[in-house]
Amino acid sequence: MDKGSIIKEISRLKKEKNAVILAHYYVEPEVQDIADYIGDSLGLSQMAGQTDADIIIFCGVSFMAETASIISPDKRVFVPDISAGCSLADSIKADDIINWRERNPGGIVVSYVNSTAEVKANTDICCTSANAMQVILSIPENKKIFFVPDKNLASYVKIMSGRDIDIWEGDCCVHEYFDTKVLQEVIKLHPDAEILVHPESSSSHDPAIYELENAYILSTTGMVKRAKISDAKKFIVATEPGVIYQMQRLAPDKEFIAVEPYNKCYQMRKVTLEKVLASLREERYEIKVPEEIQVKALPSIERMLRILGA
Ligand code: 13P
Ligand code: SF4
Repeated sequence: MDKGSIIKEISRLKKEKNAVILAHYYVEPEVQDIADYIGDSLGLSQMAGQTDADIIIFCGVSFMAETASIISPDKRVFVPDISAGCSLADSIKADDIINWRERNPGGIVVSYVNSTAEVKANTDICCTSANAMQVILSIPENKKIFFVPDKNLASYVKIMSGRDIDIWEGDCCVHEYFDTKVLQEVIKLHPDAEILVHPESSSSHDPAIYELENAYILSTTGMVKRAKISDAKKFIVATEPGVIYQMQRLAPDKEFIAVEPYNKCYQMRKVTLEKVLASLREERYEIKVPEEIQVKALPSIERMLRILGA
């Protein structure tokens, strides 16, 4: 089947089955093109809660589809590639949190949404890179906090908030690469560019970055918005380069430079048009969080969405 026929068939099946396609900014551009909604982890969570569709095809990695299943347990959630996982999410287990709670009674556990359903079921409040600071600031100042699993985002919010935070030593293999030295090499080549850094990057908590007046620490949606509203004509983008596709669409007259175009999330990139079609047609691979975990995990996501007024 050629690409045009695949796209037509996806569109036909979507209507027939009352399905919606959600895609993260890091999936392949041709998959972003067929999505009903493209967003970051926060936007996708909100969308999963708002949609009237019976079926959600989640073009992303497994923790994202699990989050959708937790928020909308009455909907059927599918992923096009069942093997698309996230090493950051898999770096921590529920037992690691239970052990911390035993040592820190009364402490608050904040989990980045890039975590498994079992971890969320043992979490007080979730956050994404778009709202981590608001979530931390919502916690009473006398409370000790355990932030899991991303050490870079945790270190960033620790510096920004000045709060007492224990940090789990997980990282994202894509963003860990973006340290200050790597960024400075690209800045030397493009001194006139604005610098956009995802908080999962190792440079996000290096004070040297805060000294640059044209550097911004932003979630992926934050970067897309910045591309549109900024007066700059050139941007250095320190995150997975898939997001540049949407930035370029929104601001076609501006230039976007990936710090490293080949530093991709190869888990997200496993999703192809062919797999989306097979997922819709054959209703595979279904992600269903078991009820006892879903019920325990839901409040941690609802608390996060309430903070944003969602
Ligand atoms: P956001 O979607 O919150 O920007 O996080 C990026 C990411 O790594 C998702 O897996
Ligand atoms: Fe996980 Fe990093 Fe890929 Fe996001 S970009 S899914 S955190 S490996």
